[in-house]
Amino acid sequence: MSRYVMEAHHIDHHLFTPPQIRRRVDELVLEIARDCQSDNLVIIGVLRGSFMFLADLVRGMNQHGMHPRIDFVTLESYAGGFVSTGTVRVAKDITVDVTDADCVLVDDILDTGRTLSFGISYLLERGARSVKTCTLLDKPARRVVEVSADYVGFTIPDVFVVGYGLDYEHYYRELPFIAEVTLLEEEG
Ligand code: IMP
Ligand code: MG
Repeated sequence: MSRYVMEAHHIDHHLFTPPQIRRRVDELVLEIARDCQSDNLVIIGVLRGSFMFLADLVRGMNQHGMHPRIDFVTLESYAGGFVSTGTVRVAKDITVDVTDADCVLVDDILDTGRTLSFGISYLLERGARSVKTCTLLDKPARRVVEVSADYVGFTIPDVFVVGYGLDYEHYYRELPFIAEVTLLEEEG
């Protein structure tokens, strides 16, 4: 039996379909291409949630003649499941030298804001000249740290979502769409 039906939750209410995501990513690429012409552009993805979004973003950038260096940082604030622990730590560091670079920090979702604000300081401390931020999703209702992203794909209500890189306990990242997770116990 697949884990999809074993667990006491289910994936329903598809919020964004693959074509909707593709169209929005293309629009974000246009915005970034207009703003971020730099001979020292570095795209930093926050692992693991950003991998699919970043892959689509940088392919779009290539079509606009952009040739960024690309690296990843693993930032962890979640112990697993639905609950954030509050502190962010670097679990895997970047390798690319970002000294004097114009960076675009890419994450899957802006939730409490802890990860993104940590990531901005982290890149500035490493000598980045500028740091712009890009998240596919934004849940402004959940914000704890005052931070906003320069480029946001979609603003969503306070629901837990998976797919297109986003996970629930490391599952569902492969889904080509974005859907809401419902806990069956919570439905009563
Ligand atoms: P923040 O530090 O609270 O803003 O959290 C950002 C991180 O929390 C993201 O990179 C995600 O990994 C995770 N996260 C927040 N909301 C969701 C969600 O609805 N689904 C999956 N992961 C989420
Ligand atoms: Mg993440």
